[in-house]
Amino acid sequence: MAKCAYFLSRKTLLEFCQPGRLTFLRTSNRTLNAMRKFTDDRQAVILGIETSCDDTGCGIVDTAGKILGEVINSQHLTHLKHGGIIPTIAGNMHRQQITAVCEDALRSANLKLRDIDAIATTTKPGLPLSLAIGNTFGKYLSRIGNKPYIPIHHMEAHALTARMVQEIDFPYLVLLVSGGHALLAIVENVDKFYTLGTTLDNAPGEIFDKIARRLKLANISEFSHMSGGQAIESAASKATDPTKFVFEPVMTGKRNCQFTFAGTLNRSLRYISKQEKELDIDGSTIIPDVYNLCAALQMSAVKHICLRTQRAMEFINNMNLISQEKRTLVMSGGVACNNFLAKALEIVCSEKGFKFVRTPPRLCNDNGVMIAWNGVERWTANLGVIRDRDEIEMVTVEKKAPLGESWIERVQNADIKCKLVKLKGLCD
Ligand code: KG4
Ligand code: ZN
Repeated sequence: MAKCAYFLSRKTLLEFCQPGRLTFLRTSNRTLNAMRKFTDDRQAVILGIETSCDDTGCGIVDTAGKILGEVINSQHLTHLKHGGIIPTIAGNMHRQQITAVCEDALRSANLKLRDIDAIATTTKPGLPLSLAIGNTFGKYLSRIGNKPYIPIHHMEAHALTARMVQEIDFPYLVLLVSGGHALLAIVENVDKFYTLGTTLDNAPGEIFDKIARRLKLANISEFSHMSGGQAIESAASKATDPTKFVFEPVMTGKRNCQFTFAGTLNRSLRYISKQEKELDIDGSTIIPDVYNLCAALQMSAVKHICLRTQRAMEFINNMNLISQEKRTLVMSGGVACNNFLAKALEIVCSEKGFKFVRTPPRLCNDNGVMIAWNGVERWTANLGVIRDRDEIEMVTVEKKAPLGESWIERVQNADIKCKLVKLKGLCD
């Protein structure tokens, strides 16, 4: 406990733990059995911790999918000032926030640690310094509360969140688009994923953030508190000539589901530099064509995402991997908050016979609830729930972690020619 003393004050510790609970559990087997019966008859409650990047999140969810409490502390504005996420700053901020975030989540649920059945924590993939804070604190709560520990894969959590709010049968297709990832996968079950495509370079949210910074969008007051992606979507909606800037179709010749966003990023940066030079713009001034540029680059990214997703659907349909009546596309991750992308994907889904499920935007960005829900899924299926104390203490974090098995080559070998369906109403 001494190792983690910086996390919690003694007063807080006493508040978290029922006095004498640990000895009580060890000494009375009869009481233990009675308690087990009690636990079996009620909904289990899982506390989830998320610290993989720049959000410190804690969510408390029961096995019925009811959110009992949640708190999120975003570091977004701090990192905005530094022009990007600085891992050491992110780690320190998680360390400063983690205790209060978890305490507040418990308080908002009107629960104490003793009421929690297991602790679930993101342990991969992500920024190691950030992940380490969540993992250390999660294990600490597991230790002082004598709770099982459930390590969580961040992308699996994004992929499964929608099942908390609506019934979605396995298997289904998932599109995960965020600041760190672009990924298409088949979700076979809670523990089994087949990756059809991932990004060769940048993630869509990452390029939106970089371009928004380069465009100085935060200097426009209505965008100043938004993430880069949000700002670009809002700016794009104000475009008067969305086809003014030309972005060549991206990687249409490659018959796979791999993503690339570097070309769109570089072209955007070149357009910005060119306009700044031509119009002699510097300092905090913004190029006059900012809205048209945002619309064009958003369209380029959306068309690319749609084409890759359409090929994934055609792969599933051709191979009959999911029965016709069950075919569903779930979209998640921070970029899934984008309404323009959602509308485009809805069109692709209706053309290809897929039901479209959009994870509720408030659960798309990183949060503790999605980690708690993944904990619930694992708890219910009894998969990856660690009860052995020594084993729990051995859990470490991983910077990189693929999502399940790679089927990237399988898709490539299927050699599916694919022309993007007409995105009627969006573009022609
Ligand atoms: O999933 P998330 O919270 O964190 C990661 O795991 O990356 O995603 C954050 C990303 C940011 O890059 C942000 O710019 C992007 O999601 N984002 C959006 C929108 N809202 C957030 N991108 C496009 N359109 C949006 N409306
Ligand atoms: Zn994420």
